Amino acid sequence: MSTEKTSRPAATAVAHPNIALVKYWGKRDDELILPVAGSMSMTLDAFATTTTVELLEEGAATDSFILNDAPASGKPLERTVAFLDHVRALAGSERRAAVTSVNEAPTGAGLASSASGFAALALAASTAYGLELDERALSRLARRGSGSASRSIIDRYAVWHAGTDDESSFAEEIEAPDLRLVIVTVDAREKAVSSREAMRLTAQTSPFYEAWIGSTEASLEEMTRACAAGDATRIGEITESHALRMHAVISSTEPPVRYLAPGSVAVFDVAVRLREQGVPVYGTADAGPNVCLLTTPEHADQVAAAVEGLGEVRVVGPGPGARLLDEQGA
Ligand code: DP6
Repeated sequence: MSTEKTSRPAATAVAHPNIALVKYWGKRDDELILPVAGSMSMTLDAFATTTTVELLEEGAATDSFILNDAPASGKPLERTVAFLDHVRALAGSERRAAVTSVNEAPTGAGLASSASGFAALALAASTAYGLELDERALSRLARRGSGSASRSIIDRYAVWHAGTDDESSFAEEIEAPDLRLVIVTVDAREKAVSSREAMRLTAQTSPFYEAWIGSTEASLEEMTRACAAGDATRIGEITESHALRMHAVISSTEPPVRYLAPGSVAVFDVAVRLREQGVPVYGTADAGPNVCLLTTPEHADQVAAAVEGLGEVRVVGPGPGARLLDEQGA
């Protein structure tokens, strides 16, 4: 970041990843990022992304993007510039920007850093370019960067309505009981196949794709009812069966993609064993080998102790949606 004092428009935003309890897997519109079905998630209280967007002088020819202290290139840079192009079109501006972003979670390790990344970028960029967006508009904007980012705008628990067009596809808060996720990082390396690519492959080649869409709609309806009823056990049951269905449809592609590793299965097995002892704990995993165990606050320590040795363990809870930092960084 520049040390000289500047009066150029700038804004800094913080956002957190979210873990979907009903997953988003499949687009009906790749350009607008409209999903084939709705989804539901918990925004985390950990692994923040902090992003600053500063507009450059008129006439600057390109945007710059520093990610975790190093200049970004390739796909991450392309996606960021494409996103800024969209913000510029909304703001009627041609000014280029300098973006600086720091992730507390390892990028690509399945902790949905694209969700926190585009949520923070949506808020920082829209503010720097002078757009005043309400929560719904911000969620729609973040969606254009990465579908799951639409949910990281929202506090605690979010439902992303599939919608039928750009206007109607956004996330909003939903009431749900206080829960914890015990995150077990069994492998922190970047995944070989991105969710974006594997999602497309699933739509193109899985014979089970239509059934997956129907079952996601049904899971979301049931999840919404379980949340309204405050039924943590039912929320967990839906979470685990829905996650395993997603991994089943992903492994039915041609060529097959498999994200779960032996170490991931071992974590799911711990959940089965703990349930036999009466502990309400249920597994879920995104497009990677790391597993999150959903449980109640009272059982979180016991669950964390039971997975010790299977990976790096971190207990997280529901956290805040995207917010701006003031100049003092508060
Ligand atoms: C398995 O939001 O990363 O985490 O919209 O193509 O950027 P794009 O995909 P992305 O996919 C997330 C997939 C998931 C499930 C979920 O978070 O709902």
